[in-house]
Amino acid sequence: MDKFDFDQMIDRHHTGAEKWDGLMSIFGCDDVLPMWVADMDFASPPAVVEALVSRARHGVYGYPLRAEGYYQAAMNWQKSRHGWTVEKPWINSVPGVVSAISLALQAFTHPGDKVLIQPPVYPGFYKAIRKNGRELVENPLRLEHGRYGIDFTDLENKLATGVKVMILCSPHNPVGRVWSKEELLRLGECCQRHGVLMIADEIHGDLVFRGHAHQPLATLSPEFAANTITFVSPSKTFNVAGLATALSIIPDAALRARYQTVLDAVHIEEGNIFGITALEAAYASGGDWLDSLLVYLEGNADMVVDTFKKTESPIKVLKPEATYLAWLDCRGLGLTPDKVPEFFTRLAKVGLSDGRRFGEQGNGFMRLNFACPRPVLKYGLERICSMLGL
Ligand SMILES: Cc1ncc(COP(=O)(O)O)c(C=O)c1O
Repeated sequence: MDKFDFDQMIDRHHTGAEKWDGLMSIFGCDDVLPMWVADMDFASPPAVVEALVSRARHGVYGYPLRAEGYYQAAMNWQKSRHGWTVEKPWINSVPGVVSAISLALQAFTHPGDKVLIQPPVYPGFYKAIRKNGRELVENPLRLEHGRYGIDFTDLENKLATGVKVMILCSPHNPVGRVWSKEELLRLGECCQRHGVLMIADEIHGDLVFRGHAHQPLATLSPEFAANTITFVSPSKTFNVAGLATALSIIPDAALRARYQTVLDAVHIEEGNIFGITALEAAYASGGDWLDSLLVYLEGNADMVVDTFKKTESPIKVLKPEATYLAWLDCRGLGLTPDKVPEFFTRLAKVGLSDGRRFGEQGNGFMRLNFACPRPVLKYGLERICSMLGL
């Protein structure tokens, strides 16, 4: 047996877990199997749990200080996993990637400025742009020959309209693409040509399956490094999203100073001792656990793909190259987009994310989170199949 038991079922009811305890407000009923918000039903690595328990036992929870080990762990992780030599001054601590993106929009754009994203994409991007009064510009991904890709002609045209910032989702949620070096180079060069600042959301960068390699955008050239604000986090990788701890990495001193001004204005960098403890333990000692997790998650991804690969299945899915999210193409159900979520919630009794939340391109799609013990996944997929007569 593997050293880590991802088959173990952990009851998350009544733990204040949004995914399990928030069903009524999201789905209007509480008898669906939750496969929606992007956290995992697995315990965090033992090293993380032990570090947190030990810190909790201490009993004194005053203002924290990030010790050298915190930065070393984060820098070593980027170096060993992604070949990125990050320097300590480039790092800032932020409570989460979405709040950090919002702060970056405040630092680098003005109300009304254009910000480009690539739908279907994580709903948090829409929120950050709209709630900050910036103008949304969309460069939809293209589904061609069974793979999502970037429409570079459209990108070039859109960037030329005066876009100030592009938010890149790398790897991409929900379509599961790990962008190739060639794609990233082309994209970054487009942004350089048009004087567009890059925000790289690399929160899923550690969750990449065999045969694919995540390339941090800022590693591709000194010019890219000088034009990129990157966000990373242990939250998805080690299932510590509830500890509200993420990092910004900004190699360019001038960009960093501008960002720092906004962080200072809201006095947000203090963080919390549990997030700090978890980040250091995860990055310092979580590598083996992650390697096992990735094997398990890929097995789950294969199970999802195998389930829907039958020709008679009206639901189609492409195997994700990264993330624990499967983007289900449900247009074959022949339902209007507003009825598709009902098929899952009311009939199959599984709670998936409504594709419409990811932009207009998500009409007729649903996102399934497969980061759960395999027997649970099997059960959820059987519920869907029984409603499809498969
Ligand atoms: C691409 C992407 N960015 C950011 C987040 C959320 O990050 P945080 O919880 O740190 O705000 C998610 C969560 O699903 C995500 O998929």
